[in-house]
Amino acid sequence: MKLKLVAALAALIGASAPAFANCDPGETVVKMSLVTALKGHPKGETALAMAERVNTQLNGRMCMEVYGNSELYDDDAALEAVLRNDIQMAAPSFSKFGPYTNVLMMFDLPFLFDGPVEALNFTNSESAAELRDVLTPSGFASLGFWSNGMKQISATRPLRLPKDAEGLTFRVQPSEVIEAQFAALGANTKRLAFSKVYDALVSGEVQGQQNSWSNIYSKGFYKAQDGVTESNHAYLGYMAVTSQTFLDSLEPDLRDQFLLIFELTTHEYNRFAYEINEARAQDVWRETKNIVELTDEERAAWRAAFRPVYAQFEDQIGRDLIAAAQSFNKQ
Ligand code: LMR
Repeated sequence: MKLKLVAALAALIGASAPAFANCDPGETVVKMSLVTALKGHPKGETALAMAERVNTQLNGRMCMEVYGNSELYDDDAALEAVLRNDIQMAAPSFSKFGPYTNVLMMFDLPFLFDGPVEALNFTNSESAAELRDVLTPSGFASLGFWSNGMKQISATRPLRLPKDAEGLTFRVQPSEVIEAQFAALGANTKRLAFSKVYDALVSGEVQGQQNSWSNIYSKGFYKAQDGVTESNHAYLGYMAVTSQTFLDSLEPDLRDQFLLIFELTTHEYNRFAYEINEARAQDVWRETKNIVELTDEERAAWRAAFRPVYAQFEDQIGRDLIAAAQSFNKQ
């Protein structure tokens, strides 16, 4: 990890806006609901930075409030609330869009991307831009992709090889691809909202989970696990959405400025996601001895175990789209 970069990032994070603005009468309110932490988290920091810019640059016309840690809604309810215009923005992970489209579950395919840079390059590409249209029939306006990072897998016992996961129950996001990924290991799954994961790990309702370092650290998942495997086996990213009704309700010049602030903030902060996750990885490594580092051979065994998942979903997702995503990998 580049320590200078992380220090610079920490300074930037320290300068973030408060989560709440004092909205004045007459201002258009943009409420955004997140399930994750705000400070020190890729999605939280992006949302806070966007709110700070909206509240400064559009002061008097628009006001943005960011609610984190599932304080307002879990992700499923947040998407419904966006469509009702009860809130105006959400950025759930791709796995949460199953009720609206099959295509975004592509991002859950294990080892789709070599790493977060390849994932970011894909989400910045023309092929990915087309994916923003898949939510239009449901009434969403996709604003763009927000980055988190690579997922790590953890359990009540160290997972070094795929067979170590056999028979355990893992908390999963609501994604058929993720369920198939664990079925390929002979493991069981339980769909749970993000806000329920920590308690489910502590109670033993589930014995394992997978998530990015920033989520594993900020929600303390590692404290309830005896092994966190640095597997980097899948990508966690988000689609930031509003509703078309909300966008259409804005004066054209205000809409343009709102979208421009979104674009600029997204472009700037997506590049920080990697460093934020590296910093949170360091935090976990400092606090637990239970990290499993994989050899190249062990990682190849995980890759091979997950390979059959592709055949199950390539028709639904589309072979061309999968190939387009993989074209950003090195080999
Ligand atoms: C999860 O449910 O595990 C994640 O999608 C949470 C998040 O938004 O990063």
